[in-house]
Amino acid sequence: MRIDIISCVPALFDSPFGHSILKRAIQKGLVEIHVHDLRDFSNHKQKSIDDYSFGGGAGMVMAIEPIANCIRHLQTSINYDAIIYMTPDGATLNQSMANSLSLFQNIIVLCGHYKGVDERVRQKFITHEISIGDYVLSGGELAAAVLCDSLIRLIPGVLSDETSALTDSFQDNLLAPPVYTRPSIWEEMEVPAVLLSGHELNIEQWRLEQSIERTKVRRPDIYNKWKESSE
Ligand code: ADE
Repeated sequence: MRIDIISCVPALFDSPFGHSILKRAIQKGLVEIHVHDLRDFSNHKQKSIDDYSFGGGAGMVMAIEPIANCIRHLQTSINYDAIIYMTPDGATLNQSMANSLSLFQNIIVLCGHYKGVDERVRQKFITHEISIGDYVLSGGELAAAVLCDSLIRLIPGVLSDETSALTDSFQDNLLAPPVYTRPSIWEEMEVPAVLLSGHELNIEQWRLEQSIERTKVRRPDIYNKWKESSE
């Protein structure tokens, strides 16, 4: 997978992609990430990328020209499957969206700032508008990093144990069950006996029951979806 990120604060991506699982995925060549500085595509002397909002009101708007220049430049060499705009008014990211987007080969992720991008950018170029939750961040960069993380960990070979992404919370519309490690007793708190029993079938059954119970209590919305799909 190749991800091209368009941002006016590219340095914000140094840390999320510079450590742990994402760093190893890049080193192994399983994902290529290119971060483009939007200012490099501005035709202005001052490299400005925003302008006043027509109709007045507080806040600047990201101008069409640098974004169009950047996207068109990228499109000269690559055919993109999706051009995603990170915005609080987009569709809320969930696991099934991450699953489908992770199948794409080439994507562009555009990070918004200020009051957002000129509406015509959305109409002309954007194929998906994604929010990471009902709150407003200072820019789309952290949201883009969250999106990229959720996609990259699904690429085969990125996680050492390939099945572990499949047992993540949300994969079956269920939250993951509780997990324990040594010591088996800590300050009189014991690990559930079934997990120490070595009986694989019982362990699997216990984990499923815990997942169901957790989902029912914590996320009734997801539990109802799971119930519908398992009927
Ligand atoms: N930009 C600002 N807030 C955002 C959010 N919640 N999701 C995606 N992009 C954003």
